[in-house]
Amino acid sequence: MDEQYPAKWVPTVRPNLKFAKGLIDLIEKYCQPHFVMAEIGVWQGESTSWFAANCKTVHGIDPHPDEGVETANTPDSLKDGKPILVRRMFELRCRVHKNIVYHQMTSEMASKLFAAGQLDMVYIDGDHAYKAVKQDILLWKGKIKKGGIIAGHDYNLKGVRQAVTEELGKPIEVFTITHGCLNCER
Ligand SMILES: C[S@@+](CC[C@H](N)C(=O)[O-])C[C@H]1O[C@@H](n2cnc3c(N)ncnc32)[C@H](O)[C@@H]1O
Repeated sequence: MDEQYPAKWVPTVRPNLKFAKGLIDLIEKYCQPHFVMAEIGVWQGESTSWFAANCKTVHGIDPHPDEGVETANTPDSLKDGKPILVRRMFELRCRVHKNIVYHQMTSEMASKLFAAGQLDMVYIDGDHAYKAVKQDILLWKGKIKKGGIIAGHDYNLKGVRQAVTEELGKPIEVFTITHGCLNCER
């Protein structure tokens, strides 16, 4: 291990394979090769790279804040002073996928770049606070075309579940305990 990055600073990706399975199942069942989608909150880009391998275009959105700037759902790896490492991990993992468009900005800022009904799918996994999830759903659900998909992570969290219930109702499918609540815009 490089001395510059002691083990505790290097975030482990998907330590729990059960959660990985939920996302893989969701992607295999719902993503289609022609999909143009947006992912809110890409972190180290693992989910982004899986989406990219199964969709036409992935707009990956994350402010990837620099040291000292935190959001309500900033992973521990960003809090310990190595946020740039997270961004580098994202870039290293994703640069092989030429169909990823990276937007280093908040969900709110990025939402202004998309027209109504432009996307086939939006996957919400950014700030998990109740108000933020509600805002993300409101900002993004109109960007999805009829018959498209809105999905997200951490449906088991109280605030996430409440926001989803209020804005979208009951998911048509939930993968594993937490992963990928999912609703189709009909
Ligand atoms: C749980 S991680 C995303 C994990 C990733 N989707 C995956 O499955 O590998 C949450 C990410 O959301 C980002 N985030 C927090 N607030 C955000 C906001 N307002 N807009 C966009 N991204 C945000 C954080 O910087 C963090 O990288």
